[in-house]
Amino acid sequence: MRSILITGGAGFIGANFVHYWMNQYKNDKVIVLDALTYAGNLASLEPVKENPNFTFVHGDILNTELVEELLRHHKVDTLVHFAAESHVDRSITGPDAFLETNIMGTHSLLKAAKKVWLDEDLLQGAEHRFHHVSTDEVYGTLSLEDPAFTEETAYAPNSPYAASKAASDHLVRAYNETYGLKTTISNCSNNYGPYHFPEKLIPLVITNILHDKALPIYGDGQQIRDWLYVEDHARGIELVLNKGKVGENYNIGGHNEWHNIDIVKLICLLMDECFANDSTLASCFDTAKAAIAGNSESLITYVKDRPGHDRRYAIDAAKTRTELGYEPAESFETGIRRTIQWYLNNEAWWQAVMDGSYQDWINKQYS
Ligand code: NAD
Ligand code: DAU
Repeated sequence: MRSILITGGAGFIGANFVHYWMNQYKNDKVIVLDALTYAGNLASLEPVKENPNFTFVHGDILNTELVEELLRHHKVDTLVHFAAESHVDRSITGPDAFLETNIMGTHSLLKAAKKVWLDEDLLQGAEHRFHHVSTDEVYGTLSLEDPAFTEETAYAPNSPYAASKAASDHLVRAYNETYGLKTTISNCSNNYGPYHFPEKLIPLVITNILHDKALPIYGDGQQIRDWLYVEDHARGIELVLNKGKVGENYNIGGHNEWHNIDIVKLICLLMDECFANDSTLASCFDTAKAAIAGNSESLITYVKDRPGHDRRYAIDAAKTRTELGYEPAESFETGIRRTIQWYLNNEAWWQAVMDGSYQDWINKQYS
């Protein structure tokens, strides 16, 4: 039985991980620490909020004393660190928050873990684990001919977001080498699935089609991303926690490379198909005029490219597969349909996230 502190558990991947974990390990205690930034959403934790093994703490990972207190109070033995500023576009217009949360925030957690687990020996010699959730963006960009990123690929981050994640990975490594903190790191490719904030490509395209708004394609749309269903990321982290070697990095990915323009066209096609097959959708989403007319693709609009835009990401997950037995369970064919269906079924979630009314509610709860 574990006592797990999950940072950023109200965000996209964190919330999916919480659901997955509480379903798999029914006796574990799960404590979520989340600052509820614009990307954090308590509604994403609705399915577990009544579970007696679940605790939500509204707080900042930069608050080292709070983290120490949580580790002691809940006798935490496992920390899984998702909390971050995660959107590349925002890191270009406002990098400071990324350095603050992703670098200083990770360091704050490392300091707290070292103090409570190593200096105070809270667990009296029992195992602890600090797992850091990172990204393939730390490896930089690939050309079409390059082999996929392995754990040996040199770090070459290109955006302030990627640079801040690379710095946090180095700090985690340093705390293992210098102090013997038992750490692991996973570097994952692009995730998609439920509870994904609609500023990221896939949920943006789905919700823009429903609002009959333009689908912005950066540059020529020929950039490539390697998409993984979010629950498969959770399963990968589970394997690293259960079988991974302390001090190691593990790549997690889906062997599922898509050009941006192709993925957008596929979503258009599937959305048109949903509207054609279910006449009730047109009345539920009467603003989705292009989809109702079977022509979502007409919304595609090429716009100015993202500065420093990485051309291609691709993950070689051979180490995670051979050492830990990792294989993604969800095919892209089924995962993308499940995701679209989730957005069609959960309008209240994404409307509230987008119009800010959810944020107003949070402010009232915590003011
Ligand atoms: P997200 O932006 O959806 O969620 C981030 C969460 O962290 C939010 O709930 C937010 O409130 C919380 N948070 C932010 N600053 C905080 C702070 N100072 N203290 C406490 N909580 C704070 O992000 P995501 O897409 O779920 O990504 C989660 C992690 O996975 C990140 O570390 C990201 O770098 C990594 N990652 C993401 C992807 C992806 O495709 N989204 C892929 C690989 C790795
Ligand atoms: O690779 C893992 C990373 O994937 C994570 O570390 C990041 O946290 C996560 O946000 C994601 O980063 P990307 O920049 O790849 O994701 P995003 O959804 O922002 O963009 C995906 C691709 O689509 C990228 O090439 C930019 C492009 N794009 C994006 C948006 C939002 C567009 O063409 N138009 C858009 O409107």
